[in-house]
Amino acid sequence: MTDCIIVLDFGAQYAQLISRRIRELSVYSELLPHDTKPEAIKELGKKYAIKGIILSGGPASVADGPKVDKKLFDMGLPILGLCYGHQLIAHELGGDVRPGSSREYGRVQLTIDKPEGILEGLAKKETVWMSHGDTVLKLPAGFERQASTDTIENAVFQNKTKKMYGCQFHPEVKHTEHGMRILANFTFNICKSQPNWKMGGFIEKTTKELKQKIGEQRVIMGLSGGVDSSVAAALVHKAIGDNLHCVYVDHGLVREGDPEKTKGIFEQLGFKHFYIIDASKQFLGKLKGVDEPEKKRKIISEEFVKVFEEKAKGLEKEHGKIKFLGQGTIYPDRIESAQPSKNAAKIKSHHNIIMGKHSFELVEPLADLYKDEVRKVGAELGMPNEILMQWPFPGPGLAVRCIGEVTEKKLIALRKADKILEEEIRKAGLYEKLWQAFPVYLPVKTVGVMGDHRTYEDIMALRAVESIDAMTANFAKLDWNLLERVAGRIVNEIDGINRVVYDITNKPPATIEFE
Ligand code: XMP
Repeated sequence: MTDCIIVLDFGAQYAQLISRRIRELSVYSELLPHDTKPEAIKELGKKYAIKGIILSGGPASVADGPKVDKKLFDMGLPILGLCYGHQLIAHELGGDVRPGSSREYGRVQLTIDKPEGILEGLAKKETVWMSHGDTVLKLPAGFERQASTDTIENAVFQNKTKKMYGCQFHPEVKHTEHGMRILANFTFNICKSQPNWKMGGFIEKTTKELKQKIGEQRVIMGLSGGVDSSVAAALVHKAIGDNLHCVYVDHGLVREGDPEKTKGIFEQLGFKHFYIIDASKQFLGKLKGVDEPEKKRKIISEEFVKVFEEKAKGLEKEHGKIKFLGQGTIYPDRIESAQPSKNAAKIKSHHNIIMGKHSFELVEPLADLYKDEVRKVGAELGMPNEILMQWPFPGPGLAVRCIGEVTEKKLIALRKADKILEEEIRKAGLYEKLWQAFPVYLPVKTVGVMGDHRTYEDIMALRAVESIDAMTANFAKLDWNLLERVAGRIVNEIDGINRVVYDITNKPPATIEFE
């Protein structure tokens, strides 16, 4: 059985990062809500061998913040509390936790008295990343201090008998120099986990499970050619071969050549049933006169489901009832839809999978994986880099890059600009260094001069960003000469554009896409 470390989420910015770091150690990790019951953990124990629990950080104060089901402390599993989790252990077991006199934030020096347990192998002085308000003033009975900082006496503590550990700082962020060593100490030395979360094993196990679940039935799958849906389709195809039917919905908002390119790649990979459905008239008709971003997204999502269901009905005439719907849902999609933060404001309705009501049974082979793991699976399945290393492209496509109403004129200009920008970035050898780069059509008229003539035309904005996971992003400091070349070509080669601007905002405060 694959070993698993559970991370309980107390609302920290870094909660997902903790479970990603554990997976980097080749140990499977699940992020679960803070109030998860022991029964739910036992249930998960049927699928994975549960080896330990990490309590994440969080923005609250332990006096009135979220609590853990204390029965978890009696399950005999090692427990590591980080930041809020560290304070919570102390608070729940009778220690004294108070709001600190000064809020410590950023890099600080840790002095280690007992370099053992989670601190094994660390030096006397270590640089660590702090971000907290509360402080543990007095330890619960049976606990001992292992390390302190100038302002915090009990920065790291342990209770070896109970196998409970607390760490006031964040080992999961890169600024804590030997943070991975701390997480590895907990995972391997204390929890005795085996590094048995490997992608090769995952493929074998998943194809076997898919075969069992699907048997001789057929699966229909939306395939956009993006990383997630492509790798998911490749896995299902490995399991059931020609019983997989892939549908590419061309909503008229795709980049130049995308449908044909995707079909070509999948035919090369041996997919027998790949259908491109040209639904552009239907989508563009519905989008006529609509300029509000969320309305656009809603319409596209609704039409997508309609087109898809119609195709499924058509296929059923030929093949009988199609029970299964395949999707490229990945772990972050699942976490976000299962635990939307109560206080989080809705920024935009992302969509890449079919949401809302349908009568299919879902097949989601990547539902436990992070993006980098999906790429590794794709590589092991022999998928081309053209698919695996490509930039993300939003489900609603160019609609969210046409500010205001989506029109044919804007789409034509955008497709041309997109091609120019990508070509120049590839030529400069920067494609894989960027998270994404794209043009955005701004329907704002300004004056220009072309030859001897005055022009009065629209603006094309360029956006290029660097990012790890799209949660935050920095605008790319592209070379001026490269930008100048792109701007020159756009104005010369595209009708109706006389000015190009470059977006230099980061996310936050901007988002990556404009809508
Ligand atoms: P934002 O604009 O929210 O985008 O900063 C973050 C990343 O997500 C992509 N994006 C989407 N992807 N469906 C998707 O599959 C969507 O509806 C969608 N909207 C934005 C965006 O391109 C960026 O990489």
